[in-house]
Amino acid sequence: MDVVIGITGASGSLYAIRLVESLVAQCRITLVASETGRQMVAEETDYEFANLESLVHENADNSDMAAPICSGSRHFDAMVIVPCSMATMSKIACGISDNVLTRAAAVAMKERRKLIIVPRETPLSSIHLENMLRLSREGVVILPAMPGFYGCPETVSDIVDFIVGRIMDQLGLETGPGPRWGE
Ligand SMILES: Cc1cc2nc3c(=O)[nH]c(=O)nc-3n(C[C@H](O)[C@H](O)[C@H](O)COP(=O)(O)O)c2cc1C
Repeated sequence: MDVVIGITGASGSLYAIRLVESLVAQCRITLVASETGRQMVAEETDYEFANLESLVHENADNSDMAAPICSGSRHFDAMVIVPCSMATMSKIACGISDNVLTRAAAVAMKERRKLIIVPRETPLSSIHLENMLRLSREGVVILPAMPGFYGCPETVSDIVDFIVGRIMDQLGLETGPGPRWGE
């Protein structure tokens, strides 16, 4: 499976790191991050962004509008934006493609490919909620960073794994981490 992973400047960059680690053995990954997305990795984790870049198959410069994933002719199966800021989500909901990340999301939508958005904000304004509804009606999967606690998590990693597991379920990969009720 060929997957684009977009990282933006919302809190929750650990979700993206764990997703890359969990997918890399079974998927071809193209990584694209906004400037604030990169900053958030540095703020919230001990992870060097360069290490993340070295794990994946292709890195796209978010300002290079000539990047292959900006074109519908560059096939990919799915895109996951994790975490997704309200700013990026608003742009996508309005059809604004002003960087590689928002353009690749627009491509995913117009080509009817799977687009999974993992928004992170609280509380949510009516504008945020309307944007989510609009995107959902377009077939986008809105998968909020809202971990469940029925697996009795003991560590931050357990909580992160819950969301990563749900993202991988949406990709059709039932090999993700995280608990399943009844198992
Ligand atoms: C410490 C910090 C935490 C932030 N957390 C969030 C967040 O959880 N959700 C959100 O929508 N924006 C958050 N922001 C604001 C975004 O980073 C800001 O809107 C930025 O313009 C997003 O740009 P991008 O979508 O291109 O990455 C945060 C900013 C800072 C400095």
